[in-house]
Amino acid sequence: MSDSNTFDVLIIGTGAAGLTLALKLADHARVGVLSKFHLTSGSTFFAQGGISAVLDKTDSFDSHVKDTLNAGAGLCDEDIVRLTVSQGKQSIDWLREQGVDFTKEISGQLHLNREGGHSHRRIVHATDATGKAMSLALIKGAKEHANIKTLENHNVIDLITADKLDSTLDKRVVGAYVLDAKNQQVKPMAARVVVLATGGASKVYFYSTNPHISTGDGIALAWRAGCHIGNMEFMQFHPTCLYHPKAHSFLISEAVRGEGAYLVDANGIRFMSRYDERAELAPRDIVARAIDNEMKMHGVECVYLDISHKPAKFIKQHFPTIYEQCLKLDIDITCQPIPVVPAAHYTCGGVMSDDYARTNIPQLYAIGEVACTGLHGANRMASNSLLECLVFADRASIDILKTLPYLRHLNLDIPTWDESQVTDSDEEVVISHNWDELRRFMWDYVGIVRTDKRLHRALRRIELLKDEIDEYYSHFKVSSDLLELRNLVIVAELIVRCSQQRKESRGLHYTQDYLEKFEDSAAKNSILIPITTKTGQGVS
Ligand code: FAD
Ligand code: SIN
Repeated sequence: MSDSNTFDVLIIGTGAAGLTLALKLADHARVGVLSKFHLTSGSTFFAQGGISAVLDKTDSFDSHVKDTLNAGAGLCDEDIVRLTVSQGKQSIDWLREQGVDFTKEISGQLHLNREGGHSHRRIVHATDATGKAMSLALIKGAKEHANIKTLENHNVIDLITADKLDSTLDKRVVGAYVLDAKNQQVKPMAARVVVLATGGASKVYFYSTNPHISTGDGIALAWRAGCHIGNMEFMQFHPTCLYHPKAHSFLISEAVRGEGAYLVDANGIRFMSRYDERAELAPRDIVARAIDNEMKMHGVECVYLDISHKPAKFIKQHFPTIYEQCLKLDIDITCQPIPVVPAAHYTCGGVMSDDYARTNIPQLYAIGEVACTGLHGANRMASNSLLECLVFADRASIDILKTLPYLRHLNLDIPTWDESQVTDSDEEVVISHNWDELRRFMWDYVGIVRTDKRLHRALRRIELLKDEIDEYYSHFKVSSDLLELRNLVIVAELIVRCSQQRKESRGLHYTQDYLEKFEDSAAKNSILIPITTKTGQGVS
């Protein structure tokens, strides 16, 4: 195997989590960072609202912890919450050192936004395009570092564990097979440590705020490799995605509500106070469910978000990206309400990982949205995700730098990819058809409101699709679309199986068959453990 495909650390993902880790390791290790499309293709680039951090004099760690625990509906790991919250200021300072220019007050202090669930102003932001500012700064840093090799259009097919190469060896990760999509060539890549930083899985739903890449690849890769996966029933639906035939997954930031926007029906009547005393600033699960209910009750296709009562100058200054994007679609938000609907936004569950981002497979780490650290519990609070990316990239870097010296002796020979049994696909249409079908029934049966019957119906369809996709995968050469579909169907199954385990309504998991929430003291994570059998993979 060529030296150019061997790394100390192979990081899969170039979002906030992956690039932060790369920059923290690069003075001491040779790092490869992969993106399956371009470097800015992850959710990070599209993040709007900002990053939560306790910076205001009247705010405190205790208050940020309390708000996070409340939003998480009794399922957060309090130690993890405290750890994360306590690293807010140092994470922001580090980003500023990397060149991220956050919005400031006239006094020069950072301007802080407010969002749902937060009892204080604590969202650091770069107007309404925080992710873009972060991404560009981190990519610049990574490109300038001699020890970091960034590779675009490199799509990881599967992780490689030592026991698969030699059954006498223990299970530990040693690399990955990667499709170089431009050259249509599969490369084996070897590494002493592999890190999943692949983002979320919201594209499993028909309507989503996420970019195309959010197909849950890291979760499926980890599952096939033998990782424990948890809390997949907690898929978060953002309440306010722009509703317009020409808008493709465009988010209207929660910060718009934080600055006083109202949610109204077609007659301009506010409705949120009928659902929660915090009205528009209730946590996301409550607001999304309320909108869903209003839409179903009145048989309408959207509700409206109205900020037009604020001065036009204020709106344009605070939300320049949202203002421009809506104006392109003939919606002037300074004088018109914005049509909005809920859409799948964030994956609270994922690959189970500990306080140093370690998974249950040695030398395999998971950071960012792909991971389930215990921070979000049953519902993530706004702007805690980017903070989690930064904090757990930092935690992983500490552990990796400590263990790397002990891994230098490992033999990293990985066999080439065997294509002798497959041919070029003769019916690509099967892939796009199955994609469409999967995402539609996930939206209809496993969406904001669930029932046992709908979950069962979804699972039956997933099983059929899985057989068809496996058959296709074993006969034809891999393509990026096929890889994503193969991963999406696994993620869909994990979401349904976790949902079926939970016989209560909690946070983002709301089922008409079990409306009550158990006592918080009895709350448990839903954890799935893969078992490998002769006929394939199952769940224990
Ligand atoms: P991502 O940024 O999603 O990056 C994933 C990377 O993995 C990409 O480079 C992708 O190419 C790569 N990848 C995936 N699969 C493979 C594969 N098989 N092979 C190779 N590479 C692969 N959170 C906040 O805290 N504050 C906000 O204001 C905020 N706003 C948001 C607005 C929008 C529109 C969206 C969609 C999300 C927002 N979020 C926000 C959530 C937050 O942006 C994400 O959770 C976070 O950016 C995830 O970062 P990440 O590094 O884990 O993954
Ligand atoms: C938003 O700006 O509304 C997104 C914030 C988040 O998802 O944390």
